[in-house]
Amino acid sequence: GIKSIILAGGSGTRLWPLSREMYPKQFLKFGDTSLFQETVLRCLEISNISEIFVVTNEAQKFFVIGQIMEMGYTIPPENVLIEPEGKNTLPAIFFGMREIEKKFGRSVVGVFSSDHVLDRTAMQTISSAEGLASDYLVTFGVVPSFPHTGYGYIKTSEICGPGYRVSEFREKPDLETAKKYIQEGCLWNSGMFLLDTQLFFEEVKKHAPSVFACFENGKDINEIYACVDNISIDYGIMEKSDRVAVVKLEQKWSDLGNFAAIYDELEKDPAGNVVLGCDPLLLSSDGNLVYSKCGKIVSLIDIKDMVVVDTSDALLICPKSSSQKVKDVVTTLKDRK
Ligand code: GDD
Ligand code: MG
Repeated sequence: GIKSIILAGGSGTRLWPLSREMYPKQFLKFGDTSLFQETVLRCLEISNISEIFVVTNEAQKFFVIGQIMEMGYTIPPENVLIEPEGKNTLPAIFFGMREIEKKFGRSVVGVFSSDHVLDRTAMQTISSAEGLASDYLVTFGVVPSFPHTGYGYIKTSEICGPGYRVSEFREKPDLETAKKYIQEGCLWNSGMFLLDTQLFFEEVKKHAPSVFACFENGKDINEIYACVDNISIDYGIMEKSDRVAVVKLEQKWSDLGNFAAIYDELEKDPAGNVVLGCDPLLLSSDGNLVYSKCGKIVSLIDIKDMVVVDTSDALLICPKSSSQKVKDVVTTLKDRK
């Protein structure tokens, strides 16, 4: 059957300070299960547990194994792949594809982010694209709702099996370009892919030859990662390849990439506040996302549409509409060190 790769190595800097490098957003529980656990459950719709590979790092390995065990499954230890350092999604996916080919031979592989909210029924759409994968790098498209500049945009051409051929793939365009793509009827790239191992290796060799060479020549994973560029699959091959297809996802999809997206997704109190953690005191305040720890009273008066996240050693306050900028705090803090 179809194999799965789960990418669980990003640091989720747009959810600072809720997600620290040691405890990224995919492992946070908003309810009974984490986004990572939901991702594993979705993969189990198309792969059995021994066909699921997780690409992560040493610090998050514990969460990966622990949260899978908590659901009553045991992942074979060789399926948990540890990167020496994060080099973005192209090396991470290459690492996973290589291990899958070693274990199972040529395979069709679903690649999944661990920070998406998506109904399990979407997995039928994923498996329906299996036939396309021998000829195309298959992406899954979502109808855009606004000109988000953090996503990839996909322009479709002729019908191709259950989907379309892609005439243009453009990663993270600027606002003007994003608006233009939306007018032209482009789709958002959901960040999930269905890839044939052999076609993937060919396309990487063609469009990102230095990445391919590092994997071919490195004697172990440390040497490979020291050599390989930091590059995403989107910039590395999707923008360049002429063998890309897209299948439309009808299900509601969301990348919980920032606090505004989390706010939209979660249940609100009668005043439209999303409250995480312990009970804050909210007086004539609405439309806010508030996180506070127990043992400390956080109170808001006449505050609207703000994010207030109070953790033990950091406090964030920003308008919900500035959520995409939270990553700048992390960048600035890193520069300061
Ligand atoms: N193992 C590993 N190593 N995982 C990684 C690394 C890494 O170095 N970097 C990122 N990831 C994981 C993240 O944890 C996430 O689950 C997934 O790979 C995607 O990375 P993001 O950093 O969240 O990508 P993005 O959101 O900016 O863009 C991608 O997703 C969008 C949709 O959510 C692109 O594919 C866009 O085109 C797409 O629209
Ligand atoms: Mg993302």
